[in-house]
Amino acid sequence: MRGGSSLTVYVSQEGHASLEKSMVLLGMGRNQLRKISVLEDFTIDVKALEKQVIEDRKNGYRPICVVGNAGTTNTGAVDRLDSIADFCRDQDLWFHVDAAYGGPAAGTKVACRLFRGLDKADSVVVNPHKWLYVPAEAGCILVRKPKALRDTFQIVADYLREEREDGANAPLDFKDYGPQLSRNFRALKVWMTFKAYGATKLRAAIESNIEIMRYLANRIDQSQDFVRLAPVPLSVVCFQYLTPDISVHEDQKCIDDLNGRLLDALEKDGRVFLSGTKIRGRNVLRACSVNHRLRHEDVDFLLEVIRQVGRSLIAP
Ligand SMILES: Cc1ncc(COP(=O)(O)O)c(C=O)c1O
Repeated sequence: MRGGSSLTVYVSQEGHASLEKSMVLLGMGRNQLRKISVLEDFTIDVKALEKQVIEDRKNGYRPICVVGNAGTTNTGAVDRLDSIADFCRDQDLWFHVDAAYGGPAAGTKVACRLFRGLDKADSVVVNPHKWLYVPAEAGCILVRKPKALRDTFQIVADYLREEREDGANAPLDFKDYGPQLSRNFRALKVWMTFKAYGATKLRAAIESNIEIMRYLANRIDQSQDFVRLAPVPLSVVCFQYLTPDISVHEDQKCIDDLNGRLLDALEKDGRVFLSGTKIRGRNVLRACSVNHRLRHEDVDFLLEVIRQVGRSLIAP
């Protein structure tokens, strides 16, 4: 069998790179993170997941955890959390959900159905500095059984011991729930955001982001010189600019090269900012909005600027 750790963790190929880093930090090694293939809509192939877990067990590995994506970085895909939750329950695996970006959309009318099964997770990570509009940075982990964190992280040194530490009315001491001892009061800005604006306004802002990014997707679908490369379940739109010369539209290398150069050129131009990524090996422009100020006009302007800069790149 293998050397080193036998503990294995599972996530789709679309899982965030921080998971690999976490595996290294935990001393488990990045090879113990199994990257499971995705379906057409970029959600995890649950059948492939089941197969991999069974095979690993046969080969002497110890599967311990499945990470479901609730809004991937690349496309905003939300895995079928319900199916993963059932599988984890049957297989006695920890079910963690990476909702760092997408989590807040679970509270909206327009997107909540995507998140069915989120309530069955053992732990969920949400980053309020993403889609709760809180200034960077504020990461948040929600756990079903806080005792598991306490059992892991509580170390009572002589100089830290407090009289009420073990009593029933002991105050919640965050040092017992994570690796940090001294820590910033990051929760304050999250709390203040809810106090100042309220959940109703935050929900409306998230719904507006989703609606406007769907509008962008529609505009792209109706244009001859743009093509969309992924579904838009939340607020990420991945697309390519096509030259007006339709004779090269089938030339993938040419279009990928153009979009790679376009991304740099847009950054230099400075009027709009897009990130880029790869979708099934293709260079794409990635527009993601977690900005409560976003308006339809911004999206119109974005497409206009891309056209201008794009044309300047292909001008003879
Ligand atoms: C889905 C997902 N998970 C995790 C992270 C990591 O978050 P951070 O950059 O705040 O550490 C990101 C960041 O983009 C993300 O999109």
